Amino acid sequence: MKMQAVRGMQDLLPAKKRIFRYIEDLAREVFVGYGYREVGLPLIEYTNLFERLVGETTDIVEKEMYTFEDKNGESITLRPEGTAVCARFADQNGLLFNQVQRFWYHGPMFRYERPQKGRYRQFEQIGAECFGIETPDIDAELILMSARLFKLMGIEEKLSLELNSLGNEKSRARFKSDLVRFLGRYKKEIDKDSQRRLTANPLRILDSKDPGTKKILSEAPRLMDYLDVDSRSHFEMLREILDDCGVSCSVNPQIVRGLDYYNRTVFEWTTESLGAQGTVCGGGRYDSLIEQLGGKATAGIGFAIGIDRLALMLEEKEIEEKKVDIYFVSPDIEIRNTVFIMAEKLKDGIPRLSITVHCGDGKLKSQMKKADVSGARLALILGEEEFREGVVGVKFLREMADQVSIPQGELVRYCLDYFGKEKVLD
Ligand code: HAM
Repeated sequence: MKMQAVRGMQDLLPAKKRIFRYIEDLAREVFVGYGYREVGLPLIEYTNLFERLVGETTDIVEKEMYTFEDKNGESITLRPEGTAVCARFADQNGLLFNQVQRFWYHGPMFRYERPQKGRYRQFEQIGAECFGIETPDIDAELILMSARLFKLMGIEEKLSLELNSLGNEKSRARFKSDLVRFLGRYKKEIDKDSQRRLTANPLRILDSKDPGTKKILSEAPRLMDYLDVDSRSHFEMLREILDDCGVSCSVNPQIVRGLDYYNRTVFEWTTESLGAQGTVCGGGRYDSLIEQLGGKATAGIGFAIGIDRLALMLEEKEIEEKKVDIYFVSPDIEIRNTVFIMAEKLKDGIPRLSITVHCGDGKLKSQMKKADVSGARLALILGEEEFREGVVGVKFLREMADQVSIPQGELVRYCLDYFGKEKVLD
């Protein structure tokens, strides 16, 4: 039997990986432009971090975590998301005391979900988190930042922004008990998952995709009507800033998000172009997360973008592959070491030059064919004759010009003139 990748794990072929890289590079530019600093977070954490912060009755913790015992018998988990990790990181490294922190990260997350288009067991996220600001201006900043990224990618028309407010703990508790009372009357009619959630995590019922449950929910009490005064004005101020900045959004009272740490603002960017897995970005406030971690109360808010889903939206985008500049041809394997010495010298002098040295056998003609396929602008030729004469042959692969011979000692200068200064590192 041939070896196969583990189910739900994606292989990224070069064209796909180029799209991922394009998304990451653009996100880096945009996030840095808003004053966010990149941090590196571990892929593995102690399991109880997620149990405590993401919530024991969430889908992620109940059924989707990759949890193992390490050789020391400790329970560890491949991170299913980055917010709990970033909060642990910020608290553990003493970065939260009387400070505002703006961080961003990217990398793989792991969830044991049923794989389908846009849903994988290993997927990539780019996340941004801000600690230490309670006011709604920071909510607006994060949303504006995500909007700018989508605009630069040219997909803003295909995305819509949906907002909701979950209020504070007290108002949520009042709403929860009324919701449970209301749904209790329809206990037999709502779907199985929702029946179970009625006691375990009733807010998540609002997320149900079951048509029958959805119909019943349309008559249910609305969280918006229970909001405390402060949460209500927080939400209004956020909407005002977005409105003033020309970012349109709609309020969707069904958005509760699948993780337990949220309060007040929650939001999602969704698209209809990806079928069932249409949420490309989700986020919100989590003002009691640091306290739950054992730290001093610190406000927090952030979002994460699913790169795999964005990449599906950008599939048609042609992202040009970086071509090699020079293909070094040498039909005589005996002088390959001289070729390597010359190629390394070229790289010393012009570090951004991309050079492929032909490796392996092959007659001049077949090597030249490979040079052409590589997309290189120049083929440098070092045959027996050139070697003897101390020169290199230069063949122009993308323009009509005769082949020339350059003394080996002048090759760096020649290439510098030909390719220009942008190939030199600053
Ligand atoms: P989340 O909604 O669980 O939030 O995930 C954020 C995004 O990751 C989703 O909108 C989706 O694009 C992508 N995603 C999630 N699961 C998968 C999957 N199985 N396959 C492919 N893509 C997936 C969080 O993770 C929070 N930490 C976001 C956050 C940051 N909230 C505050 N700060």
